[in-house]
Amino acid sequence: MNLLQLINIEVVFEQNTNNETVVFADFNLEIKKGQFISLVGSNGSGKTTLLNLIAGNIIPTKGSVVFAQRDITGLKEHQHSHFMGRVFQDPALGTSPSMTILENLALAEAKGHSFGLQRGINKKRLDYYKTRLEQLQLGLENKLQVQVGSLSSGQRQALALLICTLTPIKLLILDEHTAALDPKTSETIMELTDKIIKKQGVTALMVTHNLRYALEYGDRLLMLDKGKTVIDANNAEKDKLRVQDLVQMFSEFMEERPAISNLKVIHLAT
Ligand SMILES: Nc1ncnc2c1ncn2[C@@H]1O[C@H](COP(=O)(O)OP(=O)(O)O)[C@@H](O)[C@H]1O
Ligand SMILES: [Mg+2]
Repeated sequence: MNLLQLINIEVVFEQNTNNETVVFADFNLEIKKGQFISLVGSNGSGKTTLLNLIAGNIIPTKGSVVFAQRDITGLKEHQHSHFMGRVFQDPALGTSPSMTILENLALAEAKGHSFGLQRGINKKRLDYYKTRLEQLQLGLENKLQVQVGSLSSGQRQALALLICTLTPIKLLILDEHTAALDPKTSETIMELTDKIIKKQGVTALMVTHNLRYALEYGDRLLMLDKGKTVIDANNAEKDKLRVQDLVQMFSEFMEERPAISNLKVIHLAT
């Protein structure tokens, strides 16, 4: 069953000006419930725009976004937070630095309404938060009263992941969420991400520049180039791809070409 459908999407920035940029002309994508997709593509290929479209940060100039059989095109960004969560590249974006871990979690559960804090946190919630924090295996369960701003980038990103998935969401959006971390921390957060996705069975869409992660994690791989899908590989096909193959394709797409339509589109997944 499809969780998400992008139908005949067109995105044009600064339409009818000298700076007009057509990012997507007639873009279509279907994401099945439970899929974990890694999305790669060179800079400017449209990855972030795609995530923004899905998350409601931008509205397409044409086409529709259908989520769980419901047309959500034009729905406000904050209305999306009830069924999707997003972790950004910058660890500072997913949490509030001046609040404690406990306050951040309580606020996340109330989806940004401050009544979550005013009501107070009973023992049951506290135990629940501790259990969830324990699963991160970073010792954060002992730091409930610590201000989030004093945590390391990796700890903050782990917390951002937890915050996103604290309430039952249907789609987890990961926007290069390990790119700002050192290699070892990046590895830890990636493994943690995979664990959370599997445990919760949440559908996930992960943009990454790390080609190894793109191949190692998830069960479908997409490559975008100039607003078009140039690779759509299912799990079995992804298993046969190597980092070297992807690097090769990147370098081919980087070369100047008269028109993208001349490219052989590798459409593997069905
Ligand atoms: N708000 C915007 N206004 C104008 N152009 C934009 C805007 N956002 C993105 N673009 C352009 O759209 C194209 C795709 O950008 P983006 O989705 O950020 O690519 P990626 O994330 O793959 O690097 C780029 O050419 C970029 O300059
Ligand atoms: Mg981007």
